[in-house]
Amino acid sequence: MDISLQTHQSYIGQPVSALPTPALVVSKPVLEKNVKRLHGDVEALGIDFRPHVKTLKSIEATRIMLAHGRYKKIVASTLSEIRGCLPLVKEDLDAFTSQHGLKIVLMIDHADHIRILEEFNARTKRSNPWPAFIKVDVGTNRAGILNSSSRLDEVIQAANSSAAVSVYGFYCHAGHSYAAKTAEQAVKVLNDEINGVVIAARRLLDPKTELVLSIGATPTAHVVSNIKAKLPENTRLELHAGNFPANDLQQVATGLVSLSDQAVRVVAEVCSVYPERNEALINAGVLALTKEVSSFTGLARLTEEVNWGIVRVSQEHGIFGWVGDEAQSEMAEDRFRVGQKVLLYTQHSCITSAMYYAFYVVDEQDIVRETWIPWKGW
Ligand SMILES: Cc1ncc(COP(=O)(O)O)c(C=O)c1O
Repeated sequence: MDISLQTHQSYIGQPVSALPTPALVVSKPVLEKNVKRLHGDVEALGIDFRPHVKTLKSIEATRIMLAHGRYKKIVASTLSEIRGCLPLVKEDLDAFTSQHGLKIVLMIDHADHIRILEEFNARTKRSNPWPAFIKVDVGTNRAGILNSSSRLDEVIQAANSSAAVSVYGFYCHAGHSYAAKTAEQAVKVLNDEINGVVIAARRLLDPKTELVLSIGATPTAHVVSNIKAKLPENTRLELHAGNFPANDLQQVATGLVSLSDQAVRVVAEVCSVYPERNEALINAGVLALTKEVSSFTGLARLTEEVNWGIVRVSQEHGIFGWVGDEAQSEMAEDRFRVGQKVLLYTQHSCITSAMYYAFYVVDEQDIVRETWIPWKGW
């Protein structure tokens, strides 16, 4: 068992430099600012909001994303995330059931999914249809059906004529928006998302069915105020995003947020310094940082001087090397000393956070004020 599960609370009131390493640090003021920004955009547009809970996988982060009850819908990738959110529902069960109706909406993109739901309903004698988003692929080539595919019509028809499914709406997730380097490029993907779900919704050919069109990924969420699309009358638009409270180097690489908008950092310890190769060794390797990349070379960056990057990793070791302009290169022995605690920005905070058993939540002065225990597993 990870020792942090027994000791995490004893670090409350201590600076990040006192933490056992490697450890995951969440800056609450930065996180709250990031969330407030997106809530402001969503409210100005008058659209719905459905945060994905997979980034910080915790009740505390979810409460903040839901504005403590102002928003009531989430997206989850795993049953563990849904289980983790159940206390929120229980706390407010009356409101959820009587005012809003607690609803699990599935995502489908294959006729077999409908067949499986029909078999399940028959086996369990369930008479209610399952509300389902039909997933549209807008260019990420992960899950979903392209609008140009005749399979989309097949799935729409199959869902429409099945007693086991009621079409709730159309959902797309533009994972490829992470390749955007400018706001213009992100706005283009945002428009592709809207067109993707609107074109799919028109295929349903029943103008009376109320549909939710769900779009978003953190890069397109960062430019959501650019939405100009006119939506069909029977549709409501909702934005979903997950990474936005935390951000990371991949988000900074899109040019839509800055280094200081990153709420997640890893604290590690310098184990050795090598003047002959101008490198330093830390106790955070691939398990503490993950192997994600972006246009920021290296697997993580030193927060106090981002031109020091993690250039190689093994399971539990990371190597700092100078990744900036050669002419400005610093000496490793001037920057690092054995035993020093260092803070790192990570490439993809969702994946890095998933490696840790406790999150140390700090204030503006990097003093630990809370600890959050994330949901693990699937
Ligand atoms: C289906 C789905 N919806 C929404 C999201 C949230 O996207 P992001 O983390 O870019 O905000 C994800 C992230 O992987 C996802 O897989």
